[in-house]
Amino acid sequence: MCGIVGYIGERNAPDVLIKGLKRLEYRGYDSAGIAIINGALVFKKGKGKVQNLHKMIKDSGLSGKIGIGHTRWATHGEPNDVNSHPHLSETGKIAVVHNGIIENYNTLKKQLIKRGRTFQSQTDTEVVAQLLEEILHASKGIDFEQAIQLTLKQIVGTYGLAIINADTPDCIYIARKGSPLLLGIGEGEMFIASDASPIVEYTNKVVYLDDGEMATIRQDSYSVKTIEDVSLTKEVHELAISLGEIEKAGYPHFMLKEIFEQPRSIADCMRGRISTQTHSIQLGGIEDVIDDLINARRVVIAACGTSWHSALLGEYLFEYLAKTPVEVEYASEFRYRDPLIGPGDVLLVISQSGETADTIAAMREAKKREALVLGICNVVGSTISRETDAGVFTHAGPEIGVASTKAFTAQVVVLIMMALATGKRKGVLSQQQMKGYIEELSKIPAKVEYILEHTDAAIRQMAGLFTYAPNFLYLGRSYNFPVALEGALKLKEISYIHAEGYPAAEMKHGPIALIDAMMPVVVIAATDHTNDKMISNIEEVKARKGRIISIMNDENSDVKALSEFHISIPATKDCFSPLLTVIPLQLLSYYIAVNRGCNVDQPRNLAKSVTVE
Ligand code: F6R
Repeated sequence: MCGIVGYIGERNAPDVLIKGLKRLEYRGYDSAGIAIINGALVFKKGKGKVQNLHKMIKDSGLSGKIGIGHTRWATHGEPNDVNSHPHLSETGKIAVVHNGIIENYNTLKKQLIKRGRTFQSQTDTEVVAQLLEEILHASKGIDFEQAIQLTLKQIVGTYGLAIINADTPDCIYIARKGSPLLLGIGEGEMFIASDASPIVEYTNKVVYLDDGEMATIRQDSYSVKTIEDVSLTKEVHELAISLGEIEKAGYPHFMLKEIFEQPRSIADCMRGRISTQTHSIQLGGIEDVIDDLINARRVVIAACGTSWHSALLGEYLFEYLAKTPVEVEYASEFRYRDPLIGPGDVLLVISQSGETADTIAAMREAKKREALVLGICNVVGSTISRETDAGVFTHAGPEIGVASTKAFTAQVVVLIMMALATGKRKGVLSQQQMKGYIEELSKIPAKVEYILEHTDAAIRQMAGLFTYAPNFLYLGRSYNFPVALEGALKLKEISYIHAEGYPAAEMKHGPIALIDAMMPVVVIAATDHTNDKMISNIEEVKARKGRIISIMNDENSDVKALSEFHISIPATKDCFSPLLTVIPLQLLSYYIAVNRGCNVDQPRNLAKSVTVE
């Protein structure tokens, strides 16, 4: 949420910043801006996409060797030119870009106004620039780093901050509390960014800043310390992602690319972890804690959005495959209700980005209460991946499209592997059962490939018929109830069509009132053990003239006969079926959104990686 980039070196900073902001645009796209020091501090910023900013910069001929940039997802103050970042101090010498929320900004702003400062914007961020300058001028003999430390001590809230100062023209200053920032180390040049995507084409050497830390960056060196002024030696990490992974590779949208990547991302997630020879599962990241998981008094899974849908599926999977009772929580609710979690309990958090503020808050709350905290995460080096006690990476590769697709299937694969490993270790799954599960799991990438090849054209055509439907209902049972929720979420977030997901049987307790000849009802009828019940539910929809689109197993003639449209998918074990049924739903929402002219990769009001609570 909001993207930050910075550069210091021999290249033309505006070029690096614009390129970086384009890569970061998936984090927020309400407005964009950069500030450069070239003699004086100069800046350009404005409402709208980075492309607008790019044009502004080209027209102005702005150049320089050091600068910071920002792409915004608005929190305080509407998305307009004035509220765009960077924000400047009154003298115009200090520029600040910020990700996060300054919670006490109102109080600080009132005090600063009383002391004579004039504000330009409605943002919380401008307070940082103004307060910093006031402190710098008022406190004799302190340097700029010390002034930043004093400023941050007055700030309540979260921040990833990048700051430049015309009076120290060879430095970029950064600080972090709650919003990710990393530093890229090049040859005679340095980069900063809120995630690795703008850095990856220049260097693979990075330093992750932790909460409560700040850094001063020069062209050839950097120093990291705490806000309390304790110097630190930070580990230099190697980035594992490549440039190809963050480009569209000929696809019109990242979302479509990521949907089609799933045969590979699912295989990558399983690689080296399942053995079709020994029929065993090896999850190195949780090997040492699996007994704690088995013996836990209470196992809770917390997550947000699509990751919460995987979490819900995790409950079904752990109960069925490992006979382990699991509760699922919205991370945002878990934290604020004084949760009954403590020593001997396990909290499993699931997050693609590893930076979701609500999920981080749940994780920290459980840690504070001495529960064991495990994670399922996609982004290596992210806050969640670093702060959990143990965990499993999904290895899905960078997910750039705002709507989560391949991260979901990879999370489900990890949950399946965790549940199988737990079930085996507990003795509730026999070796014979493991053989059956593992052999089938290893066939999933090929089945996903088959679905993509054989259903894409039909779904694209069908999408044309439903492009202007105002509502959609998604129904599923058992393992496919979370898929119904996920299908509905995918549709509403990228096409802005109102959609609801329900357990199919729950429909008759209310939503059935919505069904008429105009209502598309997507039924996910690919779970064998609930097939008969599902058929009854489909009959109920049909009796009310609902337009039935079914996702069904090959040759389920009963479902086929009841459906106006059907998408056939290969059979699998019931508990693996979400990995297949979700694929046509992703494609359906994608094609409907494209038909409606929506910006699929950057849907309105949304942003990847929600780093504010
Ligand atoms: C939906 C979507 C969001 C995220 C949610 C959690 O397509 O992308 O609902 O799933 O914001 O994000 P992570 O998984 O990064 O914690």
